[in-house]
Amino acid sequence: MSKAEIGLIGLGTMGAALALNIADNGFDIAVWNRTTARTQDFHKNAGDLADHITATETLQDLVDAIAKPRAIILMVPAGQPVDDQIDALRPLLDDDDMIIDAGNANFHDTNRRARDAGDKPFLGIGVSGGEEGARFGPSIMGGGKRAHWDRVAHILNAIAAKHEGEACATWMGEEGAGHFVKAVHNGIEYADMQMIAEVYGIMRDGLAMDDASIADTFSGWDNGPLKSYLIEISGKVAGATDPKTGKPMLEVIVDAAGQKGTGRWTVIEAQHLAAPIPAIEAAVVARNLSSQRDARAAGEDLFGTAPHRLPHDILSTDTLERALIAGKILCYTQGFDMIAKASNAFGWALPLPDIAKVWRAGCIIRSAMLDDMATALAEDADRTLMFAPKFANMLKANHDALRRVVAQAALHGLAVPALSSGLAYFDAMRTARGTANMIQGQRDFFGAHGFDRVDGGTGQHGPWGN
Ligand code: 6PG
Repeated sequence: MSKAEIGLIGLGTMGAALALNIADNGFDIAVWNRTTARTQDFHKNAGDLADHITATETLQDLVDAIAKPRAIILMVPAGQPVDDQIDALRPLLDDDDMIIDAGNANFHDTNRRARDAGDKPFLGIGVSGGEEGARFGPSIMGGGKRAHWDRVAHILNAIAAKHEGEACATWMGEEGAGHFVKAVHNGIEYADMQMIAEVYGIMRDGLAMDDASIADTFSGWDNGPLKSYLIEISGKVAGATDPKTGKPMLEVIVDAAGQKGTGRWTVIEAQHLAAPIPAIEAAVVARNLSSQRDARAAGEDLFGTAPHRLPHDILSTDTLERALIAGKILCYTQGFDMIAKASNAFGWALPLPDIAKVWRAGCIIRSAMLDDMATALAEDADRTLMFAPKFANMLKANHDALRRVVAQAALHGLAVPALSSGLAYFDAMRTARGTANMIQGQRDFFGAHGFDRVDGGTGQHGPWGN
């Protein structure tokens, strides 16, 4: 075989799927894994694609198998393993060879690695879509020098998901811009998943619906404005049966959510940026709380559960759907506003409409609404998404449903942290005269911090007499 066009290190689930995707698109690829047996198995099981794959046993073999100037994708766990891999690989490479970190890196690490790389090509790319996406078309968010992106764009465009023929692979900006956008993607993913889980909880505990009806309800919603990958799979999850017990799958799954940290990074970064993303924060907190199973059980023993069951006919599934439509718009609004803030703060020119576009296919948060979001952001990227006429009208039509759902949930002890923080955000965002005048008064009272007066004058003080 002639030399491979690209290399890949790390044949875990995502790395293996990505390597097959690259080979499937006609590119010759050389692969290497720390455990040689895994590399051999991968090659053996690659079927017809094996002809496009060179399995190598040492890093040096990998490097030698790739045409110059080389490009090598790293698909190793985020954090120290990436640094270790770069340290091991760089000395074997020429100065114009490129390393591409395609894992879920913290964008601060990507910024540092890009700076450390100096003129040596380095890209950090966020890849979304899970195993299936990696194999058949992920959404790809790239960061690094534009010229370096351009060198491999033909491969990334070929392997990416397509939305009406358009590749979901976009260069977002310098250094860690791609991994930053991926982190916000994951923040939105967390909030969207949490809101769906809350609505599931209302159907299960508030409306006493069985899993089959819940599954049908989600599937029905997947034909309307909520059409999205997450709604689709929620219907499938609710409809699945446990082969071991014959019970609905959801009944046997422990109610403690895992997390690899990307949602948490988004929330921490949002605080640094002073970007209000309360629905995303609520979703991360809800995952943390879900893990405290013993404490929750003790709380139930101590306080008892509230009467979760809602009065007959007080909420319909149509109202839940409308609440979720409003909630979803608010999640995405928060995510895009955070991206806009980061773009200014970090001196990136993050392309908001293109970000909406790159999320339309392949990624976990792909949804029918993203097409209209791309259009709204293209009209005016500086306007908050919820003020764009299309989404403002949807909110006008549906926020009453969100309010009714949150109110009924509160009255019946059903925890809906993401939906309720979405609602509080909405209400705050349509209140011209808020209540922070009291906070300013308090700050001035105890610390002489000063306030602005509505009739003019900054750094004013009140007549507190202290
Ligand atoms: C994606 C997902 C993916 C994510 C995992 C696990 O876009 O494909 O966001 O990157 O990391 O699904 O995430 P958590 O363990 O944090 O839920």
